[in-house]
Amino acid sequence: MKLKQLFLSLLPLVGSVYAQVAAPYTDSGNGFIFDGITDPVYHVTYGIVLPQASTSSEFIGEFVAPLSAKWIGLALGGAMIGDLLIVAWPNGNDIVSTTRYATAYALPDVYEGPTITTLPSSAVNSTHWKFVFRCQNCTSWEGGGGIDPTGTGVFAWAYSSVGVDDPSDPGSTFQEHTDFGFFGINFPDAQSSNYQNYLQGNPGTPTSVPSGPSSTTTTTTTGPTASATPFDYIVVGAGPGGIIAADRLSEAGKKVLLLERGGPSTAETGGTYDAPWTKSANLTKFDVPGLFESMFTDPNVWWWCKDTNFFAGCLLGGGTSVNGALYWLPAQSDFSTGNGWPSSWGNHQPYTDKLKQRLPSTDHPSTDGQRYLEESADVVSQLLKAQGYSQITINDNPDYKDHVYGYSAFDFINGERAGPVATYLQTALARSNFVYKDYTYVSQVIRNGSTILGVRTNDTSLGPNGIVPLNPNGRVILAGGSFGTPRILFQSGIGPTDQIQTVQSNPTAAANLPPQSQWINLPVGQDVSDNPSINLVFTHPSIDAYENWANVWSNPRPADAQQYLESRSGVFAGASPKLNFWRAYGGSDGITRYAQGTVRPGAASVNTSVAYNASQIFTITVYLSQGITSRGRIGVDAALNAKALVNPWLTDPVDKTVLLQALHDVISTMSNVSGLTMITPDHTQTLEEYVDAYDPSTMCSNHWVGAAKIGTSSSNAVVDENAKVFNTDNLFVVDASIIPSLPIGNPHGMLMSAAEQAVAKILALAGGP
Ligand SMILES: Cc1cc2nc3c(=O)[nH]c(=O)nc-3n(C[C@H](O)[C@H](O)[C@H](O)COP(=O)(O)OP(=O)(O)OC[C@H]3O[C@@H](n4cnc5c(N)ncnc54)[C@H](O)[C@@H]3O)c2cc1C
Ligand SMILES: *[C@@H]1O[C@H](CO)[C@@H](O)[C@H](O)[C@H]1NC(C)=O
Ligand SMILES: *[C@@H]1O[C@H](CO)[C@@H](O)[C@H](O)[C@H]1NC(C)=O
Ligand SMILES: *[C@@H]1O[C@H](CO)[C@@H](O)[C@H](O)[C@H]1NC(C)=O
Ligand SMILES: *[C@@H]1O[C@H](CO)[C@@H](O)[C@H](O)[C@H]1NC(C)=O
Ligand SMILES: *[C@@H]1O[C@H](CO)[C@@H](O)[C@H](O)[C@H]1NC(C)=O
Ligand SMILES: *[C@@H]1O[C@H](CO)[C@@H](O)[C@H](O)[C@H]1NC(C)=O
Ligand SMILES: *[C@@H]1O[C@H](CO)[C@@H](O)[C@H](O)[C@H]1NC(C)=O
Ligand SMILES: *[C@@H]1O[C@H](CO)[C@@H](O)[C@H](O)[C@H]1NC(C)=O
Repeated sequence: MKLKQLFLSLLPLVGSVYAQVAAPYTDSGNGFIFDGITDPVYHVTYGIVLPQASTSSEFIGEFVAPLSAKWIGLALGGAMIGDLLIVAWPNGNDIVSTTRYATAYALPDVYEGPTITTLPSSAVNSTHWKFVFRCQNCTSWEGGGGIDPTGTGVFAWAYSSVGVDDPSDPGSTFQEHTDFGFFGINFPDAQSSNYQNYLQGNPGTPTSVPSGPSSTTTTTTTGPTASATPFDYIVVGAGPGGIIAADRLSEAGKKVLLLERGGPSTAETGGTYDAPWTKSANLTKFDVPGLFESMFTDPNVWWWCKDTNFFAGCLLGGGTSVNGALYWLPAQSDFSTGNGWPSSWGNHQPYTDKLKQRLPSTDHPSTDGQRYLEESADVVSQLLKAQGYSQITINDNPDYKDHVYGYSAFDFINGERAGPVATYLQTALARSNFVYKDYTYVSQVIRNGSTILGVRTNDTSLGPNGIVPLNPNGRVILAGGSFGTPRILFQSGIGPTDQIQTVQSNPTAAANLPPQSQWINLPVGQDVSDNPSINLVFTHPSIDAYENWANVWSNPRPADAQQYLESRSGVFAGASPKLNFWRAYGGSDGITRYAQGTVRPGAASVNTSVAYNASQIFTITVYLSQGITSRGRIGVDAALNAKALVNPWLTDPVDKTVLLQALHDVISTMSNVSGLTMITPDHTQTLEEYVDAYDPSTMCSNHWVGAAKIGTSSSNAVVDENAKVFNTDNLFVVDASIIPSLPIGNPHGMLMSAAEQAVAKILALAGGP
């Protein structure tokens, strides 16, 4: 489902593989030796040097940036929220700096406490600006964060090509950064006996003179050796695609290894991230449906992937451990040739039936069968009835998606998050021919031309150089999700040439790339789509906005918490969505597009000039789904962060026209519901103005599909009708990437049916183990 806006969306980095690690370098201007990095894309250098006394609370830092960098930021703990942020920019010949602190993904507030002193070697010239500064009282900050000068840490950098609003004012507002990245640092390496000299502006006597921040590597590609355990199937990524594939392959008796870069999620899997009030019951954030909205407000959002600027779950279960769990059984049209599927995929029903059997849906997740916090559903059903909609049980009628509404359906079981982790994964884990390994990062497949020999991991206990080999005829299945799978393919020399060349500019990854003669040119990352979605925010006197979900983690309503702990019933047994609706539209290009609505109490953001009662707000998110023609492109930068090279939202004007029509229709019967007021947009703005002003990235629904899309030709698809990567013998993809165009509903139900079908085709395909 659509979520919070990604404003200044630096995510924290905990225990992840850093794209870069700080190394010592000498600034040739002032002669100081810093520990730091130069990011390979914008060529900004970030350096730090600490005094030797580990009790000191200060350091000297520097940013050296080309003038194209309009402002630069550094988050000292690797996260935007809850860390000391240092932001600087040039203003004429001066550098202006500010310390900030954020408690939400929004413009960070000015933060008092640290003292920044600009040191004399700071300068602006015709090509660069350089900010060298002393930062005192900078190694700890509110919320318990800090730098341990004796240990290691993570810094996040932020870069903007857009200037701040008032460059002369340290308190200036500014827009979200254009890019960000991370680097690891070992603080003892950054200590200098010359620190006091540096404060005086002289370099002292260098103890050693390193050349510059470089990361040359001499690693060579080494084939798997017999000492590591080989597998019939190696599945990369334990999201819904990977879990279902691994379960069915192990059920068929294959020797299967499932590798996941993240760690446990729900309590059943060993997760321990409990809310203060759920500790006694041993229930994590990922178990309790009603904690869903807190995924976006927690100060320690460790579960998001750190190497992409979109929301993606990097923990066991992938997106299904952190998503809204809206669960729709696919419609027949979701697998039609018209929507890009090979004709051999036409009969999804047996696979959908298998899915239903393992993972039923419910539209009343509370164990007492009652529905809770349904006021917004009641209000919107009145609105829709006046437009000729009828109420149905959505998953009893998957093909019926025009002028219908119904209660939101989820894959929760017994009042707890279930999904593939509580079902398919558990049967796999019970088999002796199945091995699950977490905290294991796969960077590439090892191949000899078209033949995959194994995968390279970061865990050398799994094999020499971390390489896990395949049995003869063995196969690799990539299931790293819409950002993870393309990144692995590019690093394996598979994809558009420009992306493999970008990998080549990363010294570590370049060393492991196959020779150019073995590159396989496929449209990986091209033709991706995601639902464009627009939030409309309303008030109605009957609504209970549930404090906009702000208190669910640390201060829940006591009666609701108690009811949930006692019987898995009540408000906490459900997530925030309450009602969904669909309507079909014919576009001027002859294509039918579907509009979907999701209704929930609360709102991600309100922008209004009218007075309103915040206790009565609710949101209708209107998305455009099946039939949209807009497409974008996913790629990587040299730091291997995955990003949208081309945004996929509303690039086709017909999509925009249809979405606007749908928005107009949704509000067309407001006068039929007494007391209903739309506050965002408010009466000062038309829907057209509202949509025009919408920041495209906040139209994101996190429903990416198509990054390794299925098809019948390698000229416009990445995998063939058996989900095998074109021009390889034994490499497959089973995740949302293969889906060629958006399904009618939120995608993970349809994706799980597709995974059932894909793994059946892979098992049936001759030549395997
Ligand atoms: C915030 C949010 C809310 C959503 N809400 C809904 C909803 O309500 N309903 C719905 O239907 N859909 C929803 N979605 C979408 C849905 O969750 C995704 O479509 C689905 O999870 C995609 O599954 P996947 O198997 O393709 O990949 P993912 O779920 O992304 O799983 C990929 C897995 O691979 C692992 N991985 C990646 N790279 C590597 C690597 N190199 N090495 C090892 N492991 C790796 C990751 O850690 C992850 O566990 C939501 C998504 C998000 C992010
Ligand atoms: C491998 O990477 C994962 C994910 O980033 C990390 O948690 C793990 O500690 C790494 N393992 C090793 C041995 O470095
Ligand atoms: C140091 O900074 C903190 C905020 O991080 C502030 O509360 C404290 O007063 C500062 N101490 C000094 C000595 O300035
Ligand atoms: C401008 O500053 C940068 C960074 O300090 C430096 O590398 C460059 O040589 C300077 N250019 C000139 C013309 O002084
Ligand atoms: C929490 O519950 C899981 C099973 O759901 C169990 O394996 C684990 O040991 C429990 N942990 C604690 C601390 O009770
Ligand atoms: C909705 O309101 C309009 C205008 O007031 C009215 O004409 C129409 O009959 C109403 N429809 C329903 C179904 O009540
Ligand atoms: C690579 O493949 C070629 C031909 O396909 C084969 O001759 C060669 O032995 C293979 N090398 C390895 C290391 O498997
Ligand atoms: C808020 O709405 C006004 C118009 O009503 C618009 O001009 C402004 O850009 C909006 N602000 C944001 C942050 O969207
Ligand atoms: C705001 O709404 C809440 C919940 O409906 C209600 O209790 C409260 O009285 C309202 N406040 C005002 C000022 O109307």
